[in-house]
Parts: sequence; structure tokens; C-alpha cells
Amino acid sequence: MEKIQAAIAKARATRRGEAAAPPPAGQTDQPIVHPPGTDEAWAALPSLTPDLRRLVEAHVLTVTATPESTPFDALRTRILQQMRAQGWRRLAITSPGPACGKTTLALNLAFSLARQPDLRVILAEVDLRRPSLSRILGHRPTHSFADVLRGTHRFADLALRVGDNLAIAMSPTPVHSPAELLHSPGVAEVLAGIEASYAPDVVIFDLPPMLATDDVMAFLGQTDCALLVAAAEATKVKEIDVCERDIASRSNVMGVVLNKCRYRDNDYGYDYGY
Ligand SMILES: Nc1ncnc2c1ncn2[C@@H]1O[C@H](COP(=O)(O)OP(=O)(O)O)[C@@H](O)[C@H]1O
Ligand SMILES: [Mg+2]
Repeated sequence: MEKIQAAIAKARATRRGEAAAPPPAGQTDQPIVHPPGTDEAWAALPSLTPDLRRLVEAHVLTVTATPESTPFDALRTRILQQMRAQGWRRLAITSPGPACGKTTLALNLAFSLARQPDLRVILAEVDLRRPSLSRILGHRPTHSFADVLRGTHRFADLALRVGDNLAIAMSPTPVHSPAELLHSPGVAEVLAGIEASYAPDVVIFDLPPMLATDDVMAFLGQTDCALLVAAAEATKVKEIDVCERDIASRSNVMGVVLNKCRYRDNDYGYDYGY
């Protein structure tokens, strides 16, 4: 166990070192130069044009800049600033219990980030027991991100490109006991391989809830930071406390998003704390 922790710490330190080396995208006047071969890798991904009406029905409101996208865009900017400042690239989204709005937030952040053309964004579905991206995006790929984590398929076999700079890897087929897979030593190598091939600026992992299973704890060590989504009037303060502590033991707490607020000062129901 200590060996695994040490390996995870080493991998994270290496990632931070790599991320800190080049200037963050969009922060210099220099044209953006992506690592050799990565432009071709992005261009080779099959493209997906999601059905806008379906997205809006699923409360995904950030495909274009509108008054409805504003709270997500503000959250995106704060998260991006913090990730750049820390040299972080991998953002997990989780919650204490189910149906707090993780997938909805993950999609809104992914589309909001991708509206910045200098960024490359990957969204990966890691809620392997209850996947939902396939339904929301109206597309059912043959392979799953679980296959990529297992090492039986390549990211390129299933990821779809939305526009030029957002790649989405879904997990359409539920996996019954994913904790072992998420904890397996090969996962770190797979994720490092994806980063080497696609040079993303941000990788968002749409994770399961924390309290029912150990899936999230098995995977958090692969991430740089995590956003905790709580549902107003459903999530208990004690649950938020426990989850924050657990996240801090494996990754970094980016903040807590309070979702589904009936009384709020923005139009959508998100409040961000931290
Ligand atoms: N702020 C919100 N207002 C209204 N409905 C929401 C909001 N956030 C999420 N939902 C809805 O709540 C349900 C659960 O959201 P989802 O993102 O799938 O949660 P999770 O991924 O945490 O299980 C979905 O039907 C989603 O459209
Ligand atoms: Mg979900």
C-alpha cells in the first residue's frame, strides 16, 4: 500500500513538473505550439455533433455563450486559474450521493472550457456503474472508457471530437465491480499515454458518488484535484465534511459546488464555495 502511495505521489510530482514547464495555453503572445503529432491525433478522432436540444433538456447550457452559461463560465475561469497556478491538469468531479448533478456539471464545464479555442479538453466518463453521457449526447459508441483503462482498446478507438478541441470518452456499458479496475496499476500508464498523445490542458473525469462504493477512492490518486458537487436540501453537511477529508487524503479539494439551490443569486442553481 505504501509502495502504491509512493508511486502515485511520484507520478503526480512528475505530472506537475511536466505541466509547469511550458507556459500555460493562452498566457503568452506566442502562437500555441502543440507537441509534435498531437494535432494529427486530435484531427484523426471521429467528430460528434451533439443535438443541442437534447443537451439543453439535460441542462447543458454552455455550448454557446448565453446568459444561462454565465455561472458555468465563471466557475470555469476560477477552476482554470487555480489549475494553472498549481500546474494541475486532471480534474475529478464527484459528490457524496447520487444524482447531485456531477455529469451535468462535467458537461457544462467541458463545453465552457472548449469555447476557449487555445485549450484542449478531454472529458472521460468514469462513473462506470451508472454511465449517462451516451444518453445525453445521443450516441452509443461500441467501446467504453473502461476498455481503455483495462488496456484492451485505445483512446482513439472510442473518443469522439466535438469541434476542434473537446474529446469525449464515454462508457456506455455498465461495469459491475469497477473498483478493482480503477485501482489497477495499469491505469496510471494508460492516462499518461493519453496525455502524451493528445497533450490536453484539462482532463475532466466524471466520477461516481463517493459514499456508496470505494470506486472514487480507488481512482482519486490519479487526479490532481476534485470538485465536490452537493445537492441543496439532499446532501448533509456531515457528508460534505467526510468527502472533503477523503478527497484531501488522495488528491486536492478544488471546491464544493452547491447545486439545485432554490434560493440563489444566479439563474441556474449553482453556488461555488472555497
Ligand atoms: N441545477 C439543476 N437544476 C435542475 N436539474 C438539474 C440540475 N443539475 C442536475 N439536474 C438534473 O438532475 C438529474 C441528475 O443529474 P446528473 O448530472 O445526472 O447527476 P449525477 O451525475 O450526480 O448522478 C438529471 O436529470 C439532471 O438533468
Ligand atoms: Mg452522473
